[in-house]
Amino acid sequence: MNLSDQGRRLTSDAGILKLMDDLGRAMSGEGRKYMLGGGNPAIIPEVAAVWREQMQHLLADTERFDRALGQYDTPQGRPGFLKAVAGMLRETYGWPITERNIAVTNGSQTAFYMLFLLLAGKTDATSNAARRRVLFPLMPEYIGYRDQALAPADFIAALPAIERIDSHTHKYHIDFDAIEQIDDLAAVCVSRPTNPTGNVLTHDELDRLSAFAQAREIPLIIDNAYGTPFPDIIFVDAEPIWNENTILSMSLSKIGLPSLRTGILVASEEIVSAISGANAIVGLANGTVGQAITERLFESGEILRISREIVQPFYKSRLDRATEAMHRSFGERFPWSAHISEGSLFLWIWFVDLPESTMELYERLKARDVIVVPGGYFSFGLPDAWKHADQCIRVNYALTPDDVEVGLDIIAEEVEAMWGKRADHLS
Ligand SMILES: Cc1ncc(COP(=O)(O)O)c(C=O)c1O
Repeated sequence: MNLSDQGRRLTSDAGILKLMDDLGRAMSGEGRKYMLGGGNPAIIPEVAAVWREQMQHLLADTERFDRALGQYDTPQGRPGFLKAVAGMLRETYGWPITERNIAVTNGSQTAFYMLFLLLAGKTDATSNAARRRVLFPLMPEYIGYRDQALAPADFIAALPAIERIDSHTHKYHIDFDAIEQIDDLAAVCVSRPTNPTGNVLTHDELDRLSAFAQAREIPLIIDNAYGTPFPDIIFVDAEPIWNENTILSMSLSKIGLPSLRTGILVASEEIVSAISGANAIVGLANGTVGQAITERLFESGEILRISREIVQPFYKSRLDRATEAMHRSFGERFPWSAHISEGSLFLWIWFVDLPESTMELYERLKARDVIVVPGGYFSFGLPDAWKHADQCIRVNYALTPDDVEVGLDIIAEEVEAMWGKRADHLS
């Protein structure tokens, strides 16, 4: 098969492809598996009951049901849903938005592909004929962006400043001096809370980033897949921001509807109309069911209550249990530090000075039926390899607490064994 450059990129050993493949195989194979990889949210019984109830309402209203299934939506999304989302955000945050500022996509993953395609690359307006690039100002970042550039040169990233909070906790911060040096930019993109680290950019960092983007007349894309007001998997006080220059991305996935593929962008009318055009060209229209069964929850504000009173405490309690287990399993057996967990579903664990890469650790763990994600996948857009990321792993703490505990014990054994091969580490 004669593939184009882009075709080769899409069929290469993309990080996200390998990850989804390993997860799929692990889930379908024989025997007990400890699934700490992937980004699947938990199925929370009280929340699942809400979806069933809303589905029943939809089924009972035969006309609405038939139209939901039997008609294409507009490429921008379902009109009632767009209105309900805009109304909820206006009331909650006072943002000056209407339904013309909302666009729906088939999952937020698709929204990022379209945004990068719309903004990055070659343009006549670029100085010295360079390509305009998307800046990821704080590595490590979400693995799902990694292979979405049309050309690798369309992404550029910056390393973090690392704050050591105590002997086993750290936090990454944006190095503003470093990003000030970078030019030919098309957009800035951050996930907040960050997948994989659980970081939440501070208000000050967000304000500075917003000013940075405005000064360059480029949009600031904020990926709020785990943030407030829904699903609210965030454990610090951190409101989202929006202005005409911000593209805020949200998703129905992490509140519990990943299979209904519903991404929501809040953006300027210009961006919304560009995304609607891209939706029409790429896929005609979006799937409607996610919008149809959550529309009433947006209208009533119930989505906020579910997030605040059910989803957030659920993940906080899972996080507390996993954090305790991590300290119990790892103790002082080897050098380690976890990123402070301020949001998202993940523990990001740094095995400081680990003698081999966490790709080796990943293979060792896979052989013992524990699936994690090696940190190197979350590092991209950098001019040089970044050793730090290869000393880290991402652990999903959300799924089955007993499995997380056993998994962390096995991780401790394997890390210790890797150090054991280099017995001089404590001397
Ligand atoms: C940070 C982040 N952004 C976007 C996505 C994509 O989510 P979806 O396409 O299901 O909306 C994910 C999924 O894991 C994510 O973790």
